[in-house]
Amino acid sequence: MKRRYGANDRVRVAIIGCGGIGRHHYRQFSRFSEQCEVVAVCDVYRKQLDEFLRLIGRSDVQPYSDYRRILERNDIDAVVVATPDHWHARITIDACEAGKHVLCEKPASHNVAEGLAMVHAAREHKRVVAIGLQQRAGEHFQEAVEIVRSGKLGKITTVHCWNVENEAPEGIGNPPDSDPPPGLDWDFWLGPAPKRPYNPNRCIYHFRWFWDYAGGKVTDWGVHLIDIVLWAMGEHSPTEVCAYGGKFALQDNRETPDTIDCIWKFSNWTLVYTHRAANGYPLYGHGYGIMFFGTNGSLYVSRDRLEVYPEKERVPAYKRGGSPQSEPLTENFLAAIREGKPLIVDVLTGVRSTIVPLLGNIAYRVGRSIRWDAQRAQIVGDKEANALLARNWRAPWGIPKRYIKPIG
Ligand SMILES: NC(=O)c1ccc[n+]([C@@H]2O[C@H](COP(=O)([O-])OP(=O)(O)OC[C@H]3O[C@@H](n4cnc5c(N)ncnc54)[C@H](O)[C@@H]3O)[C@@H](O)[C@H]2O)c1
Repeated sequence: MKRRYGANDRVRVAIIGCGGIGRHHYRQFSRFSEQCEVVAVCDVYRKQLDEFLRLIGRSDVQPYSDYRRILERNDIDAVVVATPDHWHARITIDACEAGKHVLCEKPASHNVAEGLAMVHAAREHKRVVAIGLQQRAGEHFQEAVEIVRSGKLGKITTVHCWNVENEAPEGIGNPPDSDPPPGLDWDFWLGPAPKRPYNPNRCIYHFRWFWDYAGGKVTDWGVHLIDIVLWAMGEHSPTEVCAYGGKFALQDNRETPDTIDCIWKFSNWTLVYTHRAANGYPLYGHGYGIMFFGTNGSLYVSRDRLEVYPEKERVPAYKRGGSPQSEPLTENFLAAIREGKPLIVDVLTGVRSTIVPLLGNIAYRVGRSIRWDAQRAQIVGDKEANALLARNWRAPWGIPKRYIKPIG
């Protein structure tokens, strides 16, 4: 059912997940108050919900602890999925089935099977489903992509992305397991992930460093950088992937590596992602970013700058600052719902960009190089690696099997 939006009709939005990025989304939607209104928010942790409501200072936004009650409301048009990664797919699929449009945070999903399912659910229910890879909405990232695609940098043979910092030695520390704090529905928070005792590091923000909920830095930050590379290079499926590293220095209870290098092989270029959490010496002068290496020049791009460095004066040097990213992404999501504008990061694009770092993590976890058959959405001849494409979803939070099939 397609709704028509008149000039005075506002898109009614609910935010699911009231943590750091949920609050950020509230601020973005508030900038477009003529086109939308946030009418409901949801969190399984009462403290997070209360803090969110206090920050926004509005009594007309209705709080929920179970997102399914939001999906039952006929007066809500769209939801923002701002929960940890392990919830993205199930909530997005439930929302599509309930007729809602979705802006789901990155990485699109916790594992490859869930990403495929999100694409098919969005297609089947004809919903607007965007992924929160906001860098694509930044004008200077678009300019970087144009430069790469123009051929001015010559033949690009390799691209390097990285995030380096020094959290040694304690990292996120080693708090003991305990009872969950009052007001946190820990069983609901775990959702499709295995049942286990509460640990503060597994919950707010630091869930990123545990395999049951996320994929460490490679999917947390790597996905943003890799997304831009795939867009610029015009390819989304690597053929081979290897990754090595380990948890070599940090003495905390994280599971994901503090040191990792992943390499993906594409048609005739390679992509490398480096993460160091135990040494912050900048690479090419920066703590994070993307470097494209061409025969005529190199291009650096990050959220706040774009620079071109010539090779043998074959291309002019160039420099500019950054540009807004979150605001135009939100604006585009609303225009897609109201006017049928194409999304800047639709679910297919976001899922493809998520699969690449997920494959990096799989290669790391099995400890050998893997071959990716994108057409079949399978790793070639490696049972152990293929098992990591999906998970054992804890009941009742499974993903309908009919959606789990290749996306081409
Ligand atoms: N696009 C970006 O730049 C960007 C930046 C930060 C985070 N993110 C992504 O946003 C997501 C959330 O990250 P965060 O840093 O805000 O985490 P966070 O821990 O601060 O917030 C997540 C919130 O979701 C709640 N939650 C968990 N399960 C829920 C459920 N089933 N229903 C409702 N609420 C639930 C938690 O209690 C918590 O309050 C992650 O996937 C992360 O990768 C994206």
